[in-house]
Amino acid sequence: MGCQHHDPYQDSTAGGARSFTVAMPRLSFGRGVLDELGERASWRGFTRVALFTDPHLVDGPLVARATRSLAAEGIAVTVFSDIRVEPDDNSVTLGAEFLTGGSFDGLVSVGGGSVMDTAKAAAAVAAHGGHIVEYFAAPVGAGKAIRGPVLPHIACATTAGTGSECTSISVIRVNALDCKFVIASPYLLPVDAIVDPSCLDSLPNHALASTGFDLCCHALECWTARPFQTHAAVADPRARQLIQGSNPFSDLAAREAMEIVSRYFVRGVNDASDHEARDKLMWAASLAGIAFGNSGTHLPHAMSYGVTHLMKDITTEGYPVPSPFVPHGISVIVNAPSIFRFTAEGAPERHLEAAHFLGADDSGAAPDDAGEVLSTRLIELMRATNMPNGLTALGFSEAQVGALTESSIRQGRAIANAPREANAVDVENMYTGALSYW
Ligand SMILES: [Fe+2]
Repeated sequence: MGCQHHDPYQDSTAGGARSFTVAMPRLSFGRGVLDELGERASWRGFTRVALFTDPHLVDGPLVARATRSLAAEGIAVTVFSDIRVEPDDNSVTLGAEFLTGGSFDGLVSVGGGSVMDTAKAAAAVAAHGGHIVEYFAAPVGAGKAIRGPVLPHIACATTAGTGSECTSISVIRVNALDCKFVIASPYLLPVDAIVDPSCLDSLPNHALASTGFDLCCHALECWTARPFQTHAAVADPRARQLIQGSNPFSDLAAREAMEIVSRYFVRGVNDASDHEARDKLMWAASLAGIAFGNSGTHLPHAMSYGVTHLMKDITTEGYPVPSPFVPHGISVIVNAPSIFRFTAEGAPERHLEAAHFLGADDSGAAPDDAGEVLSTRLIELMRATNMPNGLTALGFSEAQVGALTESSIRQGRAIANAPREANAVDVENMYTGALSYW
C-alpha cells in the first residue's frame, strides 16, 4: 500500500485514474501581507470591492487594515458582515443579493472558514442564479453545476485551520434540513490567498486549539486517503472530482503540515505570544488546505457532520455563539482517534508514518500497531490542548450512536475516500469507540 501511495507513475488499478490535478491560488504568506491587499487587488484590476467579513471582525483591526490598504489604491469598498459563524444558506442568499445589487468587480473576504465559504457560495449564486441548495448533490439538491467564472475572490485568512483560502470548496449549513453540505467547483478557488500570521496574535488559545485540530485532520486525512489511482478514471477531465485521493503533491503538503503540528501545536495553543509557533501553524493550515483541496478528506470530516447536526443544548466555552454550537475542529478531532484505529488496517504503513510525523513514540512499532500508535498520539495532543474527552463530553450518549451514523452516512463521497471501506455498522462502531478516551 505504501508504494502505491507514493508512485504517481505506477499503473492504476483497473479503470482507475492515471493522472491527478493540482490547483491552488497565488499565495502570499508572511507578517504584513494583509497590508499588501490593496496592491494585489489593484493588480487584479479591482476598482469596486465587496468585502465579506463577520460581525465579530467588522469593527476590528484586521478589517481596518484591509480597507485601509484597498483605499490607499483608490479602490471603493462596501462591507457585508451578515455572516453566521456556522455559515448557513440564509447568509449565502443575503450575500448573493448584496453582490448582485452592487456592480462589484472584485470580492475580498477577511475572516475564517465561515466568511470565506460564504463569500465563495454567494459569488456562485450571484453569478449563476438559483438557491444555494440547488447546487448540492442529489438527493439534497439538484446537483446544479457551476459552469463558469464567478467574481474574482481574494481570500484573507484570519485563523489557522480551515485552509479555505486555498480550496475550491465551500461548506454551508442548510437551516431547513439542519445539515451541512459541500459545494465544490474549480471556479470557487480564490485567485489570491493572503495569509498573514499576525492575524493570530489576538486569537484566543482555545480557538487555536480547535482550528489546529482541523488543520491536523486535514493533513492526516490527506495522507491516509485512498491513492488517486484507486479512484475511477474520468473520460472528461472537467468531471474530475476534487476528492481525487492522495497524490504526490498532497503528500508533500500534508507531511510538512503534520511535522509542524508535532513541533508547534501545543506551544502555540498554550502561549499566544509564541509568534514562532503560531506563524508556523498558520503556514501549516494553508499547506493542509492545499493538500485536502487536491485530495479530499475522509471519515473524520464525514463523521464530524453527524456531531454538528445533532448537537443539542451545548455552547462551547469561549465562543460568542448561541447554543447549540461546537467548533468545527472539535467536531472533527473528537471522533478521530477511534476512526484511525479502524482505518489503519487499510493502510498500516501510512498510519504509522503519520504517527511518526505527528511526534508519536513509535519505537519498535510494527504495522499492526499503527492504529493504536496514531490514536494514542492524537489523544495526547487532545489532552495537552484541553479538548473534550470524546462524544460524552459534548453531551452525547450511546443511545445516539444510531442517529449520528444515519446523519453522517450521507457523506458518501468522503467516506469512499477512506483507506478502508466502511459501512453503517462500522461507522456506528467508530462512534461508540469515540464516546470517551481517558
Ligand atoms: Fe475541516
